[in-house]
Amino acid sequence: MSKPRTFRIAASILSADFARLGEEVDRVVAAGADLVHFDVMDNHYVPNLTIGPMVCKALRPRTAALIDVHLMVKPVDGIVPDFAEAGADLISFHPEASEHVDRTIRLIKESGCRAGLVLNPATPLAYLDHVLDELDLVLVMSVNPGFGGQKFIAYTLDKLRAVRNRIDRLAREVWLEVDGGVKVQNIASVARAGADTFVSGSGIFSTPDYAETIAAMRTELAKL
Ligand code: DX5
Ligand code: ZN
Repeated sequence: MSKPRTFRIAASILSADFARLGEEVDRVVAAGADLVHFDVMDNHYVPNLTIGPMVCKALRPRTAALIDVHLMVKPVDGIVPDFAEAGADLISFHPEASEHVDRTIRLIKESGCRAGLVLNPATPLAYLDHVLDELDLVLVMSVNPGFGGQKFIAYTLDKLRAVRNRIDRLAREVWLEVDGGVKVQNIASVARAGADTFVSGSGIFSTPDYAETIAAMRTELAKL
């Protein structure tokens, strides 16, 4: 039997209007998003280029919501202190992009942030074997990283279930976040598989009324 869970919505600003990014953050937080999901892509680890610490720093004073930085960059360590100084609350990274996963986790925590490890759809859970108890968050990718607006990969539901089982065996709280293709239509099935924190980009920002969309997500979650 799974422990009762608090659900959180993390709005991925990758799908926001970048010409009005500050206003988009204001709107989506006012609409009920719990976290601002901040996708950092380097055109090296992933084939796209987005935003860095300067943009994080510029957005930080606008919101009390947690800033959830998802690093899709290689190497990882050099940019971690910059994001900590820019006001990130959580910093997650991909193990394939770090030479020393334990060292990167420590660096994030020593910088004063919560640490997350991101598993791509094809990345084995074995990466969690020794470090799960050091983490604050596990992020399961339900698309291949690099772009918003992709289709949810169904087999990642099994992966979520497996990570949920591992987390439930711990004495401490670790968030289980899912990222990619999450929308009102599938959020309940993703939650049933074990996620508690739901990244949604196009699922929110491509809709006309963010508050209505986030409320509809919470209604789906309340049915569980
Ligand atoms: C993909 C990013 C996601 C993306 C999600 O590499 O990590 O956060 O923005 O966007 P949607 O919800 O549109 O799949
Ligand atoms: Zn992301």
